[in-house]
Amino acid sequence: MNGCADHCPEGFLSRLRDEFLVSWDDARTIVGNFHEEMRRGLAGQPSSLRMLPTFAGRPRGTEQGRLLILDLGGTNVRIGEAVLDGKGRAELTSVDRSVLPREIMSASGTELFDFLADRVDHFLGGRGLDDRWCRDLAFTFSFPVEQSSLVSGRLVNWTKGFTGPGVAGEDVAALLRAALARRGRERIRVAALVNDTVGTLAAGSYADPACDLGVILGTGTNACYFERTDRIEKCRDGVAAGEMIVNMEWGNFNRLRTNPWDELLDRTTSNAGRQRLEKMISGMYLGELARLVIGKMMAVGLLPQGTNHAALATPYALTAERLAAAVRSTDPAGAVGIEGAAPVDGAAVGQICRLVAARAARLAGAAIAAVISWRDEDLETGHVVAIDGSLFEKFPGFQENMREMLRELFGPRAAGIQFQLIPDGSGIGAAVVAAMGARTGWGAGSC
Ligand code: GLC
Repeated sequence: MNGCADHCPEGFLSRLRDEFLVSWDDARTIVGNFHEEMRRGLAGQPSSLRMLPTFAGRPRGTEQGRLLILDLGGTNVRIGEAVLDGKGRAELTSVDRSVLPREIMSASGTELFDFLADRVDHFLGGRGLDDRWCRDLAFTFSFPVEQSSLVSGRLVNWTKGFTGPGVAGEDVAALLRAALARRGRERIRVAALVNDTVGTLAAGSYADPACDLGVILGTGTNACYFERTDRIEKCRDGVAAGEMIVNMEWGNFNRLRTNPWDELLDRTTSNAGRQRLEKMISGMYLGELARLVIGKMMAVGLLPQGTNHAALATPYALTAERLAAAVRSTDPAGAVGIEGAAPVDGAAVGQICRLVAARAARLAGAAIAAVISWRDEDLETGHVVAIDGSLFEKFPGFQENMREMLRELFGPRAAGIQFQLIPDGSGIGAAVVAAMGARTGWGAGSC
């Protein structure tokens, strides 16, 4: 540790490197802690991993159909039609994408679901499909849901900055059905309620049976995998043998070494104390972590204020996109809004952005290693991880840092793990889940 920590840039940055380090030891500890929390979550004991049963099984690849999809993620809403050809190929046609208005994130449940029903109505109306038109709708709802069947489930709590009243504790499929009915669209049947990770895994494994883990690395982060039903102790009595997808809600994992920046960020969030891993990994928070560090360096005179200081003065003003731009840029300071900085200051900003992002990617790598080794301790088979999300897809160096973490943990056997980008998987896979339908023997309310 450099003695001048707060007084010279080198000292500050050297301390920052320690604070954002995920060492081999840290990663091993994370894997062990993950396994403990998974075991507890599956047994229905208190755990930071909720391990939510989804009532969705493993696709066969032969599912067929044409389904409407409604996909509510963190920042976007997508509506479209998914066509499954029964031979492992799926396509999303005529997609209507819109950015979710910010005020909807804090609006009441009725307003949120009316907004969604309006979008569906608009989509159908635009295609001349009147209210007699009926079709199955697969609803992707990317938040923690305690499901009681494939088509019903209660929101446990909001994540990703949503705060709207009147939804937590409610059956979100029922809220959607009611809103569709208010728009005269009662003939649309909610055929599956699916988390985005579950959709991504279902889409991945529909096309490739070797795919056994679904991961989202976007605004939020989470994962799901196929679990043997006899290991889901909390539903042992009510569920027939086989495999069920378990939504881990890993964003809430909290047995981690956090640093003062993590604590600072967490304190100001609407869900303080929760989603601790998500706040270290996902796109919603990465820019904010970097902004807090840069702001501190400015405050103690280790970075110039620049001519456009306001760009950094607002919480969450520094987005993951701008962080990515800074990592790519020859002028990282300019990319985050500090204009006219000297090259040495630009280099410091670049380093901060890279440190924050590299830690995120290494944590994601360690979490993936934990889930794979839970099912296959000695990595005896190959594994394909279905992944979607802008961090994975677009952030420079992110995938490489994840892979490096897997290599450190598994050595040469890491080569048997493949990452597969599944664009639009959350929607397409929800249609796959809906087409699979409810399995007999997985009764409502049995978990
Ligand atoms: C948040 C949600 C989770 C979702 C993830 C990715 O962590 O709680 O359900 O899968 O974001 O969108």
